[in-house]
Amino acid sequence: DWTPSSIVDDQVALIREQVGSARVICALSGGVDSAVAAALVQKAVGDQLTCVHVDHGLMRAGEVEQIERDFVASTGVRLIVRDEKERFLTALAGVTDPETKRKIIGREFIRVFEDAQRQIIKDAGEAGEDVKFLVQGTLYPDVVESGGGEGAANIKSHHNVGGLPDDLQFELVEPLRALFKDEVRAVGRELGIPEEIVGRQPFPGPGLGIRIIGEVTEHNLDILRRADAIAREELTKAGLDQEIWQCPVVLLADVRSVGVQGDGRTYGHPVVLRPVSSEDAMTADWTRLPYETLAVISTRITNEVREINRVVLDVTSKPPATIEWE
Ligand code: XMP
Repeated sequence: DWTPSSIVDDQVALIREQVGSARVICALSGGVDSAVAAALVQKAVGDQLTCVHVDHGLMRAGEVEQIERDFVASTGVRLIVRDEKERFLTALAGVTDPETKRKIIGREFIRVFEDAQRQIIKDAGEAGEDVKFLVQGTLYPDVVESGGGEGAANIKSHHNVGGLPDDLQFELVEPLRALFKDEVRAVGRELGIPEEIVGRQPFPGPGLGIRIIGEVTEHNLDILRRADAIAREELTKAGLDQEIWQCPVVLLADVRSVGVQGDGRTYGHPVVLRPVSSEDAMTADWTRLPYETLAVISTRITNEVREINRVVLDVTSKPPATIEWE
């Protein structure tokens, strides 16, 4: 029978055996899986591990700080944060097609990661030759779902650490390969990772870049970040975090509608609330959120985010829709 502590013990032993005295790199996305995988490797081989977080500027409010502060504080991991906001915004300028956005974000991510890799090897001097392993937070459902190939149905190009190309020439360390999400969370708690990270709902690798229908600009990101922060705060306050799988907030930057706010006519943007319930994200149902919670979110967003004058609710299951809008 597996318990969180026996999983930790087993994996620590296996990682030590696999890695020996070599060096290891881990891309930290801010999500649960990469955080728990990194913490396990850290426990096993200590400062042979270097984590890299690529800040693509598409994170939600407070997320990068959370990695820098909470995760580093709880694990003592060595973390390199690459501020690459400009690079990503420049690459995304003028792009509205969802698949093109995903491909650009994936491509730039790999470039930055390879850059960081070279830097780590250079900084290691003599020991640079020993940078041999890459940690990935691959879970059991990822293994099963992909059946050997990423995005078998090719509905969307998913980009996360799993999207790194083979020619990075690393041997993979995948300590979560046999686990389901709830087991990963239990292991994370066992390792002392803060609840704010362990309890997080899924968030896509391309971040807010695929939650803006229209162009990804600093301005649109700022609008969406503020609306999203309000929705998340109110869902947490209402105690609904466990009930929902995730609740994307989507900015319809290409759409405008007429409203009346304060003492005049407005011509603003709508945001969509997309609360879903799911077991594994392969299928999902829209969550019947309480009207009171929806009302508070709607009132607050339209009061506090001047650019938004309408809040709409997505009541579609998956299929036929997907969870994210792009
Ligand atoms: P869809 O939109 O395909 O989303 O129904 C299913 C789940 O996957 C997440 N998602 C992603 N996660 N990289 C990720 O790591 C991605 O490119 C990506 N796209 C979607 C989505 O948030 C949902 O949980």
